[in-house]
Amino acid sequence: MPSEYRLILKYADEPGYTPDIECYLRHGGYDALKKALALQPKDLPDGAKRSGPEQIRQEVMASGLRGRGGAGFSCGLKWSFVDRKSGKPIYLICNADESEPGTFKDRQIIHKDPHQLIEGMIISCFANDVHLAYIYIRGEMPDGARLLNRALQEARAKNFLGKDILGNGYDLEMHVHRGAGAYICGEETGLIESLEGKRPYPRIKPPYFPAVLGLWMCPTIVNNVETLCNVKHIVAMGGTEFAKLGTPNNTGTRIVSLSGHVKKPGCYEIEVGRATIGQLIFDANFGGGLRDGRKLKAVIPGGSSAKVFKAGEKFKIKDKEVDMLDLPYDFDSLIQAGSMSGSSAIIVMDDSTDIVGALANIAEFYAHESCGQCTPCREGSLWMSKALHRLTHGEGRAQDADYLVKIADNIPGGRTICAFGEACAWPVQSFVAKFKDEFVDKGAADEERRAKKSKGAGPGMEMKLAASQQH
Ligand SMILES: Cc1cc2nc3c(=O)[nH]c(=O)nc-3n(C[C@H](O)[C@H](O)[C@H](O)COP(=O)(O)O)c2cc1C
Ligand code: SF4
Repeated sequence: MPSEYRLILKYADEPGYTPDIECYLRHGGYDALKKALALQPKDLPDGAKRSGPEQIRQEVMASGLRGRGGAGFSCGLKWSFVDRKSGKPIYLICNADESEPGTFKDRQIIHKDPHQLIEGMIISCFANDVHLAYIYIRGEMPDGARLLNRALQEARAKNFLGKDILGNGYDLEMHVHRGAGAYICGEETGLIESLEGKRPYPRIKPPYFPAVLGLWMCPTIVNNVETLCNVKHIVAMGGTEFAKLGTPNNTGTRIVSLSGHVKKPGCYEIEVGRATIGQLIFDANFGGGLRDGRKLKAVIPGGSSAKVFKAGEKFKIKDKEVDMLDLPYDFDSLIQAGSMSGSSAIIVMDDSTDIVGALANIAEFYAHESCGQCTPCREGSLWMSKALHRLTHGEGRAQDADYLVKIADNIPGGRTICAFGEACAWPVQSFVAKFKDEFVDKGAADEERRAKKSKGAGPGMEMKLAASQQH
C-alpha cells in the first residue's frame, strides 16, 4: 500500500514545528542556500568554466522538475528561456495566488513552513541573476501574507536577504504583494499586470512571454510556490538524486489537495505517479474512502478546470485498458486519459451529487471570473452559466445539453488570449459528455412540468412561456 512521501511537508505537521526562523534553522534550514552560494566555478572538458548559478540551473534541468502551478511545464526549460542578454534586470515572481477551486496546498506551505519557500526563492534568484523578487499572494490569505512578511524580516536580519548575502557579494530584495482576490491573477501575465498596478488583463503570447517581456517589460520568471520549494531540495540532494523520486518524466513529489466526499479530506504528499487515483481516495493512508453507504460517481482530478472522470470509466494507456481508479496520479497518465493533474486538486463526488448543480456551481464561478477581454470567453462563460442556472431553477429544456456543448466548443482552441478559455469550457464539455442523460432528463422534466402548468393556465400563458424560452 503506498503511503505519503513527505519532502516539502516533511516537518510541517510535526508537533512543535513552528514557522519562525529559529525552528527552521534547527531543522537544517538555509543549509541548501549556503551550499548554493559556496559553489565554485567548475572546469569543463573544453576549458570553459561553469559558474555556481549555471550549475544550479543545470541541476534543476537534470532533476526533471515540472511546474506545480498547473501546466506541468519543465522548470529547467522555463529558466533556459530567460533572456539573459537584454541588459535589463531579471525578476522572479512566486505565484502564490492559489485560486483554482479545490486547491489548498500552497497555503499549507506558506502557513506552516514559509522559510522553505523563501529559501527556495533565494536559491532560484541566485541561479538566475535576479536581484528583486516578489511573492504575489491572493487577497484572501491575509494570514499567509503576514507570516511571509515576518519571515522576510527574519531572513533579512540573518543576512539571507539584503546586501552581500552571507558575504558572497550577492544582493537580493524580496517583497510580498497582496492581490485583491481575482482568479485571473493566478494566470501569470494577468498576475504581472496586477503587480504593475493595473487591471489583471492577461497579455497575449507571443509576444509577451514573461521570460522575455514580463514585469515592466523585463525578463521574468514566474513559478508556483511548490515548484520553488523543490529547488531547495534539488540543490540539497542533487538533480539526479531528485529525479529518482517519482516516476520517469514525472519526478519528485506532489502535494495533492483532496476534497469532497471522502472521509479524510486534506493535503497528501506523494511521489509523483506512485499512488493511483483510487488509492488516494480509498486507502486508509489517504482519503480513507467515501462516506458510509455511498458509491463513487465522479472525480475531478486536477482542480475545477480539469475534465471530469466518471466512475467506471476506462482508458487506453500504453495499449492497456486502465480503469479510472487505477490511473497513476502523475502528469502524463492523466493527460493520456483526456484530463490533467492541473493544480493537483482531486475533488471527489459520490452518488448523492447533483451533477447538473455541481456544473452550475463551477460555471457560475468562471462566468464571474472571466476578465472580459475576449468575446468567446466573456459571452460564452456567461451564456453557459445562464443555461445552467435555468436548468437548476426549473426552467430547463431538453436541448440545453447540446446548447451547452455548442457554446463550450466555440471557446477554446486559440480563440482567446489566455487559457481561461479552456478552463471554463472543459468542465462543461466533459460533464455534459459523460452525464448527458442527467442534463437531458432534467431539461425534459422541466419542459413537461411547464407544459402541464401552461395547459392549466390556458393558451395565452402557454405562448408567454414559449416566448420566455427563446433566449
Ligand atoms: C486562469 C488561470 C489561473 C491560474 N492560476 C494559478 C494559480 O493560482 N497558481 C499558480 O501557481 N498557477 C496558476 N496558473 C498557472 C500560471 O499561469 C503559471 O503557469 C504558473 O504559475 C507557472 O508556475 P509553474 O511553472 O511553477 O507551474 C493559472 C493559469 C491560468 C490560465
Ligand atoms: S480568455 Fe477570458 S480570462 Fe483570459 S484574457 Fe480572454 S476574457 Fe480574459
